[in-house]
Amino acid sequence: MKVLALVGSPRKESNTDLLVSAILEGARKSNYKTEKIYLYDVNIAPCVDCKKCKKGNYQCGLLDDMQTIYPKLQEVDTIVFGTPLYWYGPTGKMKLLIDRLSPLIASNGLKGKKAVLVGPSEEGADACSFIVGMFNSSFDYLGVHLVGKLLPKASEKAEVKAQPETLREAFAIGQGLK
Ligand SMILES: Cc1cc2nc3c(=O)[nH]c(=O)nc-3n(C[C@H](O)[C@H](O)[C@H](O)COP(=O)(O)O)c2cc1C
Repeated sequence: MKVLALVGSPRKESNTDLLVSAILEGARKSNYKTEKIYLYDVNIAPCVDCKKCKKGNYQCGLLDDMQTIYPKLQEVDTIVFGTPLYWYGPTGKMKLLIDRLSPLIASNGLKGKKAVLVGPSEEGADACSFIVGMFNSSFDYLGVHLVGKLLPKASEKAEVKAQPETLREAFAIGQGLK
């Protein structure tokens, strides 16, 4: 069993990253293999709607780091989408990745997989209706099941370190993955 985590915050060792790490730690406790990708370290070009992914072998025509991320997404059981709330949505880098998931619609590449959403923000869960709706609708479209979400209030760098309860919750989400 494998979990792939996508960290869509530019701040390493900060709120999103720490929560994602706690989820992965919990998953490893349940004998999952884990991998984390920092989206700000990889090159993801914007989707240009060329429609190449709608025909033939459903391949994306853009030759960047998504070409190594596509197979990873398809081989895991669970994907953790970690992004801070930026203007009530995901970060730009996370949105670039989501836009590039189109090849996996026609090929059913993510169908049946599980997802966890991690989204810290200054305002907390009450401000997250748009981002949760966006991920929920996108997951429905892709046939992905949202099995957990964590939307804590945190603003300063690494603030979640002072929230042991939230970190425990993250660990439990990872450990409880089936
Ligand atoms: C460009 C930008 C936009 C943001 N927009 C929001 C927002 O709309 N609502 C909110 O509650 N917090 C907002 N925040 C705060 C971040 O969500 C918060 O600091 C979060 O903890 C950052 O996560 P990180 O430490 O993993 O980078 C924003 C921060 C930045 C830099």
